[in-house]
Amino acid sequence: MSLREDVIAGLSLPQKTLPPKYFYDGAGSRLFERICRLPEYYLTRAELSLTRAHLASIARFAGKGCELVEYGSGESLKTRLLIRALRPSAYLPVDISESALRAAQRRLAREFPWLHIVTVNGDFSRPIELPASRSRRVVYFPGSTIGNLTPEEAHAFLSMTRGQATRMLVGVDLRKDANVLHAAYNDSRGVTAAFNLNLLARINRELGADFDLDRFAHYAFYNAPLGRIEMHLVSLARQSVRIGRHRFAFDAGESIHTENSYKYSIEGFRALAMRAGFAPNKVWLDRRGLFALHALN
Ligand code: SAH
Ligand code: AVI
Repeated sequence: MSLREDVIAGLSLPQKTLPPKYFYDGAGSRLFERICRLPEYYLTRAELSLTRAHLASIARFAGKGCELVEYGSGESLKTRLLIRALRPSAYLPVDISESALRAAQRRLAREFPWLHIVTVNGDFSRPIELPASRSRRVVYFPGSTIGNLTPEEAHAFLSMTRGQATRMLVGVDLRKDANVLHAAYNDSRGVTAAFNLNLLARINRELGADFDLDRFAHYAFYNAPLGRIEMHLVSLARQSVRIGRHRFAFDAGESIHTENSYKYSIEGFRALAMRAGFAPNKVWLDRRGLFALHALN
């Protein structure tokens, strides 16, 4: 489905919903990179520090000289540590954001002139055909991007990657104090709010819609029973929005659900991986126990 079809379908549901993969146009990818550097957004720093601390053990698990496939590669930040340690025979970053892919490719080519890079601009919520492999493949899925999938979508994704590689490394955000989670998704500088609202700005830009960004507000909370942060955009007034020949009515206080970010216990994620046919191997944590990197085979 295209952006237009997904938006029309999502806004026609009783609980209006937009798929989070559309956050990542050029502006959205840049805003996400700013989120990663925010003091409240502990995820990136925790995963970077655990990757540094356990790099030798992670590299032993993945094996030197493999082909490294990374889903949702973005700016390929943590990957640089793996590339240095693994010396992969090829690196295949897969991302829906063409601008993020290009920027990462340019930077990696400068930093690792010996590295064979094959970019794949694609959507991993559907089956992805990767170029033919020339050696053993390892799939890397860091950043807790798996948390943005529902458990059913995560199962479908893991079942797909099960057929693409014998080993997998998945970065997963752990369940923790709701206040820590709340702060990470409600940062004081308002970057997460801008990231969320950029979705409406993108729909205006690409579909000629007339969302008034001043009449929607970022809202994120931890839904404890479901173990997930939910992001919404709340309509601040009764209003209607036009997208082409479609009109969507909003009550004051009505929301568009834009993202889930599931948090998993170690056992919860292992159970999900096993259902998709993986055998959980090692798991590495950062010193503060905020984030986990799971090894699966
Ligand atoms: N791996 C990086 C970036 C995580 S942000 C990190 O750990 O910091 C999530 C990334 O996944 C973004 O770059 C986004 O463009 C990409 N992405 C989100 N949904 C996607 C989809 N359905 N298909 C492909 N890429 C997707
Ligand atoms: C990419 N993904 C793992 C981020 C997350 O934490 O769920 C996206 C994000 N949404 C708001 N802040 C960051």
